[in-house]
Amino acid sequence: MAGLFRPHRWQLTLVIALIVASSTLALATPFLIRLVIDEALPRQNVPLLAWAVAGMVAVTAGTAVLGVLQTWLSTTVGQHVMHGLRTAVFTHLQRQSLGFFTRTKGGEVQSRLMNDVGGMQSVVTSTATSAASSATTVIGTAVAMAALSWRLSLLSLVVLPPAIALTRKVARMRRTITTQRQRHLADLHSQVEEGLSLSGVLLGKTLGAGPAQSQRFAATSDDLVGLEVRSQLAGRWRMATMSIIFAGIPAVIYLAAGLPATSGGMTIGTLVAFTALQGNLFRPLMGLLDIGVSLTASMALFSRVFEYLDLPVDIDDPASPVRLDAATVRGEVRFEHVGFRYPDGHRPALDDVDLTVPAGATLALVGETGSGKSTLASLVARLNDPTSGRVTIDGVDVREVRLADLARVVGVVTQETYLLHGTIRENLRHAKPDATDAEMLDAARRAQVHELIAGLPDGYDTVVGARGHRFSGGEKQRLAIARTLLRDPRVLVLDEATSALDNETERAVQVALDEASRGRTTIAIAHRLSTVRDADIIAVLDSGRVVEQGTHEQLLDVGGRYARLAGAAERDAVPAG
Ligand SMILES: Nc1ncnc2c1ncn2[C@@H]1O[C@H](COP(=O)(O)OP(=O)(O)OP(=O)(O)O)[C@@H](O)[C@H]1O
Ligand SMILES: [Mg+2]
Repeated sequence: MAGLFRPHRWQLTLVIALIVASSTLALATPFLIRLVIDEALPRQNVPLLAWAVAGMVAVTAGTAVLGVLQTWLSTTVGQHVMHGLRTAVFTHLQRQSLGFFTRTKGGEVQSRLMNDVGGMQSVVTSTATSAASSATTVIGTAVAMAALSWRLSLLSLVVLPPAIALTRKVARMRRTITTQRQRHLADLHSQVEEGLSLSGVLLGKTLGAGPAQSQRFAATSDDLVGLEVRSQLAGRWRMATMSIIFAGIPAVIYLAAGLPATSGGMTIGTLVAFTALQGNLFRPLMGLLDIGVSLTASMALFSRVFEYLDLPVDIDDPASPVRLDAATVRGEVRFEHVGFRYPDGHRPALDDVDLTVPAGATLALVGETGSGKSTLASLVARLNDPTSGRVTIDGVDVREVRLADLARVVGVVTQETYLLHGTIRENLRHAKPDATDAEMLDAARRAQVHELIAGLPDGYDTVVGARGHRFSGGEKQRLAIARTLLRDPRVLVLDEATSALDNETERAVQVALDEASRGRTTIAIAHRLSTVRDADIIAVLDSGRVVEQGTHEQLLDVGGRYARLAGAAERDAVPAG
């Protein structure tokens, strides 16, 4: 937090100076009261009275102006700090590897970024300033009270011990409630994310789970009611107790001032000024104690936010990167004795995979579902890092290359296509912001999707809808291919969708894929024989191991697993009857 505040230290110093100035200025009022009561009124000194009264007005006006300035300045600083924090959390989470997002429930991240960072806002924007202002007022008032009468001042101190004890109790309660509340809020967020997204609603409708989902939401929301009420009410009884104690003090003070043993020859002006000061002490003192409460309660928020900020980035830029120039790279990809295990995997997803893909060649990965094809392909773009062995491009370990450079060299078309909610043009430009219209049309043509786009009423300005649900699977995949072609990577990773496409679409996707892999090193995960047949190397994976590799003909001759897979595929292709 200190780091976030550091850039604003001069503004903060100014804020504190303003606070000290206005609190000190406000202390003049009781002394002016004493002047009026003890001097101006008894002696009927009109000029003195006029000056004293004018002074009181000036003090009020002065503190008001300083207050406005201070609020403006501190709110600005606070908002900038919040902005810094939000951006830091977003940027840091974006650098996390896929493992983090696999582990984290959808909606949890949004909730922490919005609800928890948002909840810290009031603490960050107002706590520091109200602490400074309350502290100065309390100290100043205490000094002034002691100057007026040290006996009465001592008497006023008796309220402090019970006040502090009560505050600590309330603070602990609030912290527990806040932790629970934020957790419930995140749950609620996740349920919105899961239940009210396109895929979620689709699932709810097809499984008839809508009513159950609504009930679950209602239950979480209902829990939140109780927590919010408890959070608002925690400490209200403390406030009531404190105001009763405080209200009793003036009575004790009048008594003490009236008794000859304790009065010490006090003037009426002093007594009035003293009670005025003592009355003024209540609010800042309670303010100071409240800060304790809200700071303790907000620790719950801080720990949730900093838990994310403190996450190590496991797939990061190397300390001393090796240059891999996208313009000159040849694109030879090697997997050298690669092993990989998912953090929660009980058996390795990849085991001693050793493959070389010469520059410009095509490697087809085949194997049963779950055999590790997507996992192996993910290592090239560093979506995962191998647990043992290494992956190299032109002999350079991909872990020694800056991630941004690697992204320029390796293009990935994933199994599931994600499109941003925007127009087709925006989605394509997302891959290359400075792409010209001509480049975009060319990429779309090569991906066999231009005709389709051109046929839409709005053409390239058609809004794709959330995650691209507006398009069919085959169409989305060709859009994704167009997007990748626009980046023109030397190494292309294609994770073909498993879903069956109709013949027409399949042919279009096939042409798009052939076009995409021309002149590039391509690692294709294929579920269709037609894609695999022409590959330079075919590797058959089984439970994370390469069990066969060679060309289509070689592997057919071997008559092993590939021959069986290919035979099954041929048979499937023959129309029944
Ligand atoms: N994030 C993950 N955490 C743990 N295990 C995973 C994770 N992703 C995949 N696995 C496991 O690793 C193994 C290989 O998965 P992978 O996705 O690479 O298979 P695949 O060959 O691409 O299958 P498909 O043909 O169905 O796409 C599977 O057993 C899978 O359950
Ligand atoms: Mg896969």
